[in-house]
Amino acid sequence: MEKIGVIGIGKLGLCFALNLERVGYEVVGVDVNEEYVNQLNNCTYTSLEPYVDDYLQAASNFRATTKLSDVIDRVLDKITNFGEQQHTRHLVISCTTMPGYCDQAAEQIAPYNYTLTYNPEFIARGNIIEDQQYPDQVLIGETDDKAGAHVEEIYSNICRNKPAFCHMKPLSAEICKIATNCFLTTKISFANSIGDLAIQAGAEYDKILDAIGSDTRIGKQYMKYGYGFGGPCFPRDNKALGLYGDEQNYELLLSKATDEINRRHLEFQFQRCLEHYGEDEIIEFDYVTFKKGTPSLEESQQLALAVKLARAGRKVRIKEQPVIVEELEKQYPRLFELSSHS
Ligand SMILES: NC(=O)c1ccc[n+]([C@@H]2O[C@H](COP(=O)([O-])OP(=O)(O)OC[C@H]3O[C@@H](n4cnc5c(N)ncnc54)[C@H](O)[C@@H]3O)[C@@H](O)[C@H]2O)c1
Repeated sequence: MEKIGVIGIGKLGLCFALNLERVGYEVVGVDVNEEYVNQLNNCTYTSLEPYVDDYLQAASNFRATTKLSDVIDRVLDKITNFGEQQHTRHLVISCTTMPGYCDQAAEQIAPYNYTLTYNPEFIARGNIIEDQQYPDQVLIGETDDKAGAHVEEIYSNICRNKPAFCHMKPLSAEICKIATNCFLTTKISFANSIGDLAIQAGAEYDKILDAIGSDTRIGKQYMKYGYGFGGPCFPRDNKALGLYGDEQNYELLLSKATDEINRRHLEFQFQRCLEHYGEDEIIEFDYVTFKKGTPSLEESQQLALAVKLARAGRKVRIKEQPVIVEELEKQYPRLFELSSHS
């Protein structure tokens, strides 16, 4: 049975580890959080991600450890501390990196008999297990053809569909990963700014966007009017691509414009709410996480709108999951009227 170590078994890593175990690999997950590792090993950990609890209960070849020596350690510096390996080891980096990082890392560990492959994932919170099983594309940034082919083989086992396997250099894959998210932020900002324009002009924003999205060259996904983009990945990757462009003396205007549109859209929505609601009227939000049902407030534009309105003296009522209500009470004491979804 082939053994695979997954270093960092947080939201993404745990799902990937369980997907690997499901198709017959022996998996050791490594994490610095000891309490969490214990919860995983005695199966008391519960996740909001679909399938995770069931997969964890059913896993007979998965164990978690805090000892990176069971696999290798934090991460690059410690890898080199283990000295030169007798058999070639394959390090696959899955987290998002700034372009150029993987080439540097590969150079650092190559003398110790390691290959490095970059394999970022395109997943959405709330659907991680299934997104890993049905990817549209698998991005493999390889420094070594054989190691890249091995990653493809592992994915072929995990996937329940036939994704496009995109092999390229690590630098290309790093740019490709953040550029993909930049395309999506651009699409969201496009839809929101056309929507804002239509509202300003008295036109039908929803019908316009629906018609634009019906063009198969464009597509309906993300071609909807709504809150600006947020969450842990979109804003960060969009900015990262702009910064990388600056570093390369190529100003990436798209990434900067997309960010600016997101800010202006928030202001537009704020002004509209001020005009639309009477001063004593309650403004209700049925969720303020960046995506409905996820447990994250990170860079949430709906939360930013709620905060702006409440600080402008408007009465804002938020209905959320109990864990989010608790967080909001902590972060914004007495700013909102809060209640929990039952
Ligand atoms: N969550 C997403 O939606 C998403 C989507 C695409 C890409 N990504 C990328 O995937 C990566 C992981 O994201 P996540 O959401 O799973 O993060 P996370 O914070 O849930 O998980 C990271 C885990 O790594 C552990 N860790 C930190 N340092 C460590 C070390 N030195 N050794 C071992 N374990 C260590 C942490 O304790 C944590 O459990 C990030 O780069 C993120 O940008 C995330």
